[in-house]
Amino acid sequence: MAETDQALPPSDQLAAMNLTDTVEKHAFSDRVLIRSIVGRPDGGAGLAGQRVRAGGWVKTGREQGKGTFAFLELNDGSCPANLQVIVDAGLAVLSKLVATGTCVVVDGILKVPPEGTRQKIELRVEKVVSVGEVDPAKYPIPKTKLTLEFLRDHLHLRARTNTIAAIARIRNALAFATHSFFQEHNFLYVHTPILTTSDCEGAGEMFQVTTLISESEKLEKELIKNPPPSEVDIEAARQVVSERGEAVKQLKAAKASKSEITASVAELNKAKENLSKLEERSKLKSGIPKKDGKIDYTQDFFARQAFLTVSGQLQVETYACAVSNVYTFGPTFRAEHSHTSRHLAEFWMVEPEIAFADLQDDMNCAEAYVKYMCNWLLDKCLDDMQFMAKSYDKGCIDRLRMVASIPFVRISYTEAVELLEEAVKGGKKFENEVKWGIDLASEHERYLTEVKFQKPVIVYNYPKGIKAFYMRLNDDLKTVAAMDVLVPKVGELIGGSQREERYEVIRERILEVGLPLEPYEWYLDLRRYGTVKHCGFGLGFERMILFATGIENIRDVIPFPRYPGRADL
Ligand code: 4AD
Ligand code: MG
Repeated sequence: MAETDQALPPSDQLAAMNLTDTVEKHAFSDRVLIRSIVGRPDGGAGLAGQRVRAGGWVKTGREQGKGTFAFLELNDGSCPANLQVIVDAGLAVLSKLVATGTCVVVDGILKVPPEGTRQKIELRVEKVVSVGEVDPAKYPIPKTKLTLEFLRDHLHLRARTNTIAAIARIRNALAFATHSFFQEHNFLYVHTPILTTSDCEGAGEMFQVTTLISESEKLEKELIKNPPPSEVDIEAARQVVSERGEAVKQLKAAKASKSEITASVAELNKAKENLSKLEERSKLKSGIPKKDGKIDYTQDFFARQAFLTVSGQLQVETYACAVSNVYTFGPTFRAEHSHTSRHLAEFWMVEPEIAFADLQDDMNCAEAYVKYMCNWLLDKCLDDMQFMAKSYDKGCIDRLRMVASIPFVRISYTEAVELLEEAVKGGKKFENEVKWGIDLASEHERYLTEVKFQKPVIVYNYPKGIKAFYMRLNDDLKTVAAMDVLVPKVGELIGGSQREERYEVIRERILEVGLPLEPYEWYLDLRRYGTVKHCGFGLGFERMILFATGIENIRDVIPFPRYPGRADL
């Protein structure tokens, strides 16, 4: 510490000193962040005597001294710790301040509390600026211990709880760490589309995006309000056209004046227009448009079938094959009917793609990235991590330290299967049979990382039959250059591979897995023109948060979870 202080130039030294005895004001609000008071290494003690305005929601409040004053534990979400606030009865109706969930803004003076209290600083209120009241009889999330499952039914209020707020800060930190890691390593952040017409994983688990249904419903309603013309209406309109036509003919034959004829032609045109409108409307039919018995997607919004993306990989590869190091980080969607604690229908994925790099480079990048995130949390989120350790998972901080410091185990799929077979021989029971060629089940992955090695394990070179078409075929022609990173608590955290860069081989693979070539022609062009060795991976962002925090269910680490049967808000 002393060394850094000495290294600072005099003006910065002054600024650093100022920082220790003045509260940092928030740039876009008239109050200070509670974090800038209680989040300091001295717990805020060095700020005694400062006048500040603070705002937040009451965690707990109680009237004391026979109702002469109240203690409020105030939290504004800027850090896990609360600011203790003391309000005298002369300043407000205390009973309106103390309910959990009440929002208060107060001006006051920071004071060191009497000896023997837990707090290093407290705020003696001089003025109550505003109050957002709560009726404690109706507030859905009162102070009692609430389960995470209960909170899932109150998504709009659950961020007011210590747990969900801590997870939000950890999630934010990991997002920042992600950008920081890739930016430091000269990766370009590329925004890949959310609406797509390509199925990256070829697994057919896509949500379809269409306006055919809503358009059809709109039309149905419209036709009820304004029924289409009947055959009789149309016949009548035809009759008018023929009468008007006849009138024009007669005027011409009678050599009528130019203005008379023009007026009559205008009448005829109006009648024709009316007829064609009626004919057009009479053709309107609600229902999904069909052609040859199949849904006619040429009438859909994009004039073809479209979906929500399952992965930005294929699109991000187009940038990797041009600007070499890229990553995408966005929401992805999978219509899998999995009701597990590790699957969401909408989740966020971080997908780097590296040109001039092979499977070894891919594994090195994945390992460095995961370690970087662990160190970041230890550095920048220790208070929230301590909360997690206290409330959910005693070992979570040690796990971050362990993962940040030890090399990941790397074994081939074949070795992994041998180890699992050995375990079975030794009496270990798995629900899914173990033999070469199977897709490793979650129980197998967790056995390897949690029991066998007790650290992250990278399994590489999987059988081609269980992996996607774009993975590079190995020389044995049986396996592909894939790799999965398995971690304790979660199982599969990352899935990646070296990509097949050989035109003939990937063309063959697409056909072999039964996919049509035509939609992948653009992807094949990357191999046709200036092909390059490249690799990449996808990290499930929520799984990283599960791993870091020890939270059991993935539905609690994303603000608005979507899973079969639920999409609240
Ligand atoms: O292994 P996956 O399916 O790989 C891909 O999508 C590749 N295109 C990635 C790439 O190479 N660029 O998914 C990657 C990761 C998984 O390891 C897992 O952590 C997470 O995404 N994941 C899910 N997370 C939550 N809910 C789901 N339904 C998930 N499916 C995959
Ligand atoms: Mg996978």
